Amino acid sequence: MDTAISLSDVTKRFTRKGLPAVHAVDRVSLEVSDHEFVCVVGPSGCGKSTLLRILAGLTPVTEGRAAISGETVVSPRQDVGIVFQKPVLLPWFTVFDNIMLPIKIYGLSEEKASAAARQLIELVTLTGFEKSYPHELSGGMQQRVALARALVHDPKMLLMDEPFGALDAMTRQVMNVELMRIWETRKKTVLLITHDIAEAVFLADRVFVMSARPGRILETLQIELPRPRRLQAMTDPRFADYVQHIQKLLGLDESAAMLGH
Ligand SMILES: Nc1ncnc2c1ncn2[C@@H]1O[C@H](COP(=O)(O)OP(=O)(O)OP(=O)(O)O)[C@@H](O)[C@H]1O
Ligand SMILES: [Mg+2]
Repeated sequence: MDTAISLSDVTKRFTRKGLPAVHAVDRVSLEVSDHEFVCVVGPSGCGKSTLLRILAGLTPVTEGRAAISGETVVSPRQDVGIVFQKPVLLPWFTVFDNIMLPIKIYGLSEEKASAAARQLIELVTLTGFEKSYPHELSGGMQQRVALARALVHDPKMLLMDEPFGALDAMTRQVMNVELMRIWETRKKTVLLITHDIAEAVFLADRVFVMSARPGRILETLQIELPRPRRLQAMTDPRFADYVQHIQKLLGLDESAAMLGH
């Protein structure tokens, strides 16, 4: 298998004049193979979004190397689709035009892509809202527009930062299953960040568990649940074992005990 994503000893420190440096990420190394689905979990502020922005070519590393398909990342790439933690849509563009944005940016055929855009609008259940503007949508709907936009140019790879965080639990499960289907049928490489441990176990081939800031990889877990996975995978006894193991790593079992749960 080829290496789709590789981080070697990546360290990130944010510096601003007059302020102490923030050591966000500390010597993170990981490799993701082509067509693999991996999740990154870790406490708030541990550098998950920073890692994604590094891979997306939006922020440089302080030390180490980030590479995609063997090439050092220096700027955003066309073969990567990104869903940010916040939807970042253009307010003066309609839903349809927001989804088509990568096609315009990369100068691809709008005719071909508009069929894909329509299919994606159906997939993310926004039919009827094509001509709406972002401010006319709920947060969850905006995030679904961002998901469709990330997929419209059929990139090889998806980098997703808590893509379903703003969705209600039910829609979230539907989107997870849909994402799994897209991944299975179109064989993409997916790196998805989430703070939801169950979501990570449900989706991933491997889960990278990060420590609190400065973010380091505490452990990499191979998830051996059979595929294709549907929601009943969550009733597999191994599912609960994986979730508990990660909770322990993150010290969540103790805080739950303290709260009397
Ligand atoms: N542009 C920036 N300038 C200065 N500090 C930053 C910047 N971006 C992130 N940081 C700091 O880096 C650390 C990691 O932030 P990051 O957003 O990567 O965390 P996260 O794991 O994604 O958190 P969350 O789960 O809350 O989204 C934080 O302490 C944050 O304050
Ligand atoms: Mg984040």
